[in-house]
Amino acid sequence: MAKRTKKTEKNKKLWAGRFSKSMAKSAEVFSASVHYDVRLYKYDIGQSIAYAKTLIKAGVLTTQESAKIIKALTEIGKGIGSGKIKLLSELEDIHMNIETFLIDKVGNVGKKLHSGRSRNDQVATDFRMFVRAECLLVTTLLMNLQTVLLELAEKQIKVIMPGYTHMQKAQPILFSHYLMAYYEMFERDKKRLECVRSEADVMTLGSGALAGTNFKIDREGLAKELGFAQISKNSLDAVSDRDFAIDLVAACSMIMMHLSRFSEELIIWASDEFDFIELCDQYSTGSSIMPQKKNPDMAELSRGKTGRVYGHLMGLLTVMKGLPLAYNRDLQEDKEAVFSAVDTVKATLGIFAEMVATLTVNTAKMDKAAKCGFLTATDLAYYLVNHGVPFREAHEIIGKLVAYCEESNMQLEYLSLQQLKQFSEKFGYDATKILSAQSSVLAKDLVGGTAPGRVKEAIKRARKNLTAHKA
Ligand code: ARG
Repeated sequence: MAKRTKKTEKNKKLWAGRFSKSMAKSAEVFSASVHYDVRLYKYDIGQSIAYAKTLIKAGVLTTQESAKIIKALTEIGKGIGSGKIKLLSELEDIHMNIETFLIDKVGNVGKKLHSGRSRNDQVATDFRMFVRAECLLVTTLLMNLQTVLLELAEKQIKVIMPGYTHMQKAQPILFSHYLMAYYEMFERDKKRLECVRSEADVMTLGSGALAGTNFKIDREGLAKELGFAQISKNSLDAVSDRDFAIDLVAACSMIMMHLSRFSEELIIWASDEFDFIELCDQYSTGSSIMPQKKNPDMAELSRGKTGRVYGHLMGLLTVMKGLPLAYNRDLQEDKEAVFSAVDTVKATLGIFAEMVATLTVNTAKMDKAAKCGFLTATDLAYYLVNHGVPFREAHEIIGKLVAYCEESNMQLEYLSLQQLKQFSEKFGYDATKILSAQSSVLAKDLVGGTAPGRVKEAIKRARKNLTAHKA
């Protein structure tokens, strides 16, 4: 950070009245936050401008004084944005920097702005504005990824793959159905972000340091001016609440958990053993020693960065644990955690959309894998159920049939009626027709099932939903 200018040097710290010794350099360095909370500058300028307007109604500022302050604040905002204004770490945080620059610019009138306000209600409002905005940005990125999933699902609508439980082949599913499962997860993530946004949408100005304020601050008007849906109802809670920040990091953690599961599968499927997909060279890396390697590093990093976001969630919860009311400086530790969590999620969602959009699907491999491994055994058991055999008995019969196939190195699909009849008299010729992966998926014809018609419906619904929300 730059050295203090001559002008600010003259001004002592804005709170230094009762101190006889100036702050130790080490303490200044230890407590400074402006190198990261500068990120809130636009919100801080915005709320200060709104506050300068309210102070007219409260009888603290004249219209001219307010206009002077607003003009200066606008210029300071531009100066910070363009980098022309060098922020000073000895002024602690973004709030003190802006206020000091304001006083430098307009003199004594600038000293009136903080009337009835505290950095405690100020930072809470800034931070809530930040969280509100970030919820929308993350939602947009989730929607981009959902669009990529829909496009791939539409393109590969008919491709069949094995579905797994316990990482063992279970039943055939459509690859598009699989992709739509992630679509649903991201849909829930969006809903969670909507909740976080509405919890953050509460304006805390007027809470003062902790007890409220002596001035007639039009809190409702101020909230309206700043686009907040509500005002806080208890000043102590307002200045010490960081639930909204934890909510955002929790929502980010959930998104990362979903992306991490997706990553894991892409990594496994890109392996030679599965070979279901190939990631584009652009989103892969090589090995510095083994010339043949092509590694899925973007997916691995996405999986790995999940740890960082979970860490921030635990970090924030721990910062808050045991904090007495109201404001404590511990709360300053909130911002880096939230910034890092939200940046990580945004970066991961971005790279993920690109990686998925460019991957190649090895449909032949998926198809082949769905054909062996007795994936239609359950369909065969259901055939017997439909012919009057209780399910548990049918399960036992098909279990034996699978053991027989395993011994004789056969797939279910190639069993003749004669062979089937050795296990149950109930089998008729139509039983041989339900053993393919194709007929298995066709049979899952209900809402939420993997039948092609149902998946097409799901994609259509999803498309409609996405377009409605984009508009
Ligand atoms: N930089 C501080 C924070 O982020 C602002 C509030 C400081 N308040 C105080 N009374 N020291 O929490």
